[in-house]
Amino acid sequence: MSLNRRKFLGQIGRFTGTFAFSSFLQPALARQLEAALHERAGMSPESCAHDEDFWRQIRLAYTVSNSIIDLNNGGVSPQARAVQEAQAHYNRLCNEGPSFYMWRHLDRRRNVVRQRLAELAGCPSHSIAITRNASESLETIIFGLPLQAGDEVVLSKQGYPNMIHAWQQRARRDGIVLRWLDFELPQENGDYFVKQYQSAIGPRTKLLHVTHVINWTGQVLPVARIAQLAEGSDIEVLVDGAHSFAQLEYQIPDLACDYFGTSLHKWLGAPFGTGLLYVRPEKIKKVYPLFAAPEQDEANIRKFEHQGTRSSAVEQAIIPAIDFHEAIGTARKQSRLRLLKNYWIEAARSLPGFRLHSPRQSEWDCAIALFSIDGQDSKKISQKLWIQHFIHTVAIDWENIHGIRVSPNVYTLRSDLDRFVKALRSIVAT
Ligand SMILES: Cc1ncc(COP(=O)(O)O)c(C=O)c1O
Repeated sequence: MSLNRRKFLGQIGRFTGTFAFSSFLQPALARQLEAALHERAGMSPESCAHDEDFWRQIRLAYTVSNSIIDLNNGGVSPQARAVQEAQAHYNRLCNEGPSFYMWRHLDRRRNVVRQRLAELAGCPSHSIAITRNASESLETIIFGLPLQAGDEVVLSKQGYPNMIHAWQQRARRDGIVLRWLDFELPQENGDYFVKQYQSAIGPRTKLLHVTHVINWTGQVLPVARIAQLAEGSDIEVLVDGAHSFAQLEYQIPDLACDYFGTSLHKWLGAPFGTGLLYVRPEKIKKVYPLFAAPEQDEANIRKFEHQGTRSSAVEQAIIPAIDFHEAIGTARKQSRLRLLKNYWIEAARSLPGFRLHSPRQSEWDCAIALFSIDGQDSKKISQKLWIQHFIHTVAIDWENIHGIRVSPNVYTLRSDLDRFVKALRSIVAT
């Protein structure tokens, strides 16, 4: 598919008249969803973001509980009904004869999953490995790169703990040197991040580790501009895309990075325990896999998939997750998530002591936002939201970042956020 066509489909949603995933959805629900998408075919993503009737239809495609409100989708997201059904279908198939259906039949069909992920990511399929999560993808690179004692890696204290711990372990084991950046957040000017990375680059720098969206606050970083700093040198760029993939509108080549890792069970809504690793094709050979692979596979992306037996059902159900995501379209999803984020912030900002720790401008923000209430304990507020109101948020206490993180998803309705802000108001008042 041409890049322009892919971009067009990404903007409007891939409505084709019949859903590829409808075979895994109750027929009546599939018809309603098709009709809802058809009616909005010419609508801009921004207008559609306001159309609560449309998002109510989307919610019906999920099995989320109406008795709780989950506002921690940044942690891990629920799967649409069609994804759950597909996984159950393939699991039953595998149980008819696991070694045949799983090891032979469905293992070969992993390449179809790879192809679909590659189209979504805008990359050749021979650069995409299917992993179990972002940690596995990124640690494959962190532990697999041939670095020597004294080689330097630039990373930030506001990165994700698993990745930080992996680099620290590598430093202890191999004597590589970690150059730490310490961001003041939020930032609405990309120059800030570019300058931070620039100031840490030296003659021994071998890699820039960049978190595309900082999970604590939803801050977006200008990855492509940071990657430009490495252009023409032997410095490589590793991107943690755990929160940007299938949430923000971009494709991996836009980032100009060498390596990219993400989970698929966050914003793509694929089964729990699914992830993607991108390796620039000419770099595959130099990276050692976490799990050993035969020598003849050294330039083959599949060398990163030798984890032993794993669930083919989980992998195959990535396909309906992509179908569902494409039916909505990234632009429409991104607009809706921003609208939801801004909706609750506008309603909550009049609360006494309300302080936002996330950007507001659309270039730098996403679904995730962090707030605190001056003089009040964020952990206690988050606990009360759950115990008294069954609203799930997460209290954050990491480096210089403290507050309550809120992350809605496409199935979240504005009425859920009204309930959240009402509950918050009552907690803050007492
Ligand atoms: C920025 C970032 N990177 C990596 C990860 C690890 O993801 P997973 O637990 O799916 O491996 C997370 C998880 O929240 C994250 O927020």
